[in-house]
Amino acid sequence: MRTQVGIIGAGPAGLLLSHLLHLRGISSVVLEKRSRDYVERRVRAGVLEQGTVDTLVEAGVGARLLREGLPHHGIELRYGGAGHRIAFEKLVPGRSITVYGQQEVVKDLIAARLEAGGDVRFEVEDVALHGLEAEPYLTFGGERLDCDVIAGCDGFHGVSRPSVPDGVLSFFERDYPFAWLGVLAEVAPSSEELIYSQTERGFALHSMRSPTVSRFYLQVPPDATTEEWPDERIWDELKARLETVPGFTLTTGRIIEKGVTPMRGFVTEPMQYGRLYLAGDAAHIVPPTGAKGLNLAVADVRVLTEALDRFFSTGSTGLLDGYSDACLKRVWRAQHFSWWMTTLLHTFDSDDDYGRRLQRSHIDYVTSSDAAATTLAENYVGLPW
Ligand code: FAD
Ligand code: PHB
Repeated sequence: MRTQVGIIGAGPAGLLLSHLLHLRGISSVVLEKRSRDYVERRVRAGVLEQGTVDTLVEAGVGARLLREGLPHHGIELRYGGAGHRIAFEKLVPGRSITVYGQQEVVKDLIAARLEAGGDVRFEVEDVALHGLEAEPYLTFGGERLDCDVIAGCDGFHGVSRPSVPDGVLSFFERDYPFAWLGVLAEVAPSSEELIYSQTERGFALHSMRSPTVSRFYLQVPPDATTEEWPDERIWDELKARLETVPGFTLTTGRIIEKGVTPMRGFVTEPMQYGRLYLAGDAAHIVPPTGAKGLNLAVADVRVLTEALDRFFSTGSTGLLDGYSDACLKRVWRAQHFSWWMTTLLHTFDSDDDYGRRLQRSHIDYVTSSDAAATTLAENYVGLPW
């Protein structure tokens, strides 16, 4: 079997790449180890930058997103007994974000790929990469797929990055001393906008998915398990961390999903080796406080699509050679912003009184200075694409 681009992973990066390549007449095969049902149900990101929305709409997979996505023109930072709105319409006029679940993006992309006759294979076993220096091919479940190029879109725990010989890539990493417990609940959001709440008990985030489904996150110890967090404890803690301003009541409901996510920043340099190109979480991850992971994956895929198009239409490897450099500037901006939001809003057990005063002064500054608030807003809505 032969294709132009062998894509490992049917997350947002792999599926979008396959779709964008198809629109340019470039063939690909997507190999995914999980089932279709599993990837369509996996609850993760929810905040789409304007550039991500535009990319999906231009690619013809944005109809439901435009119908059901929730546009947001601000977020609230809540701390010290008060809420402070970061008003995008004032600070970054004309720019906003859209709340639309990642698994909905994945469903839309899978539907589009299958409708166009795309080759997306689920539940493939033992994907392995070979011949990365010159004649790449993939093996899986006893089959062989020859390709011109391999795109490693298989997330942080995938096989692509570890297939590069030792010593070739450099890794930059920061682990945070806490995790996020993410919760999906069948209840109308208690607020129109996202609330990022900083308290002495730890950070909490109130997000949403639709007018009837809410999404919440709690800062928890790094080794926390969902068993330690029965529903009642979750609601008690969410109330303690969110009902901190006069007149705000959190409406509770049936919890339909929960999971614990470690908090980590990680970057691979370069994001390529021979004929292998890494995109999305396979190359880098950010702590979710800045809502950047999915958006970075989409940005990588746009750059890679242009480079592959040039390569297949002219034979020139110029853009492909510069792929990593073209991506890493945005990647590091997002790393910095995600680190900044994380340190601004979380409770660090290691902090002494001095550290806590500094954090308070920092967040006071962000909510009282238009210049500082603009920095937050500009990064949150995303750099121009
Ligand atoms: P993935 O979505 O991880 O997809 C990789 C795919 O590869 C998976 O389907 C996996 O099953 C498959 N795979 C892995 N190994 C193999 C193998 N050996 N063979 C074949 N297939 C394989 N980002 C935002 O932008 N905004 C947010 O609000 C946000 N919130 C988040 C909240 C949480 C709780 C979490 C966990 C993440 C959040 N993110 C957010 C990050 C975002 O979800 C990821 O950055 C995004 O999923 C990256 O997409 P990807 O396609 O690169 O990787
Ligand atoms: C989400 O809705 O899942 C979400 C929102 C904002 C974040 C992270 C996750 O910063």
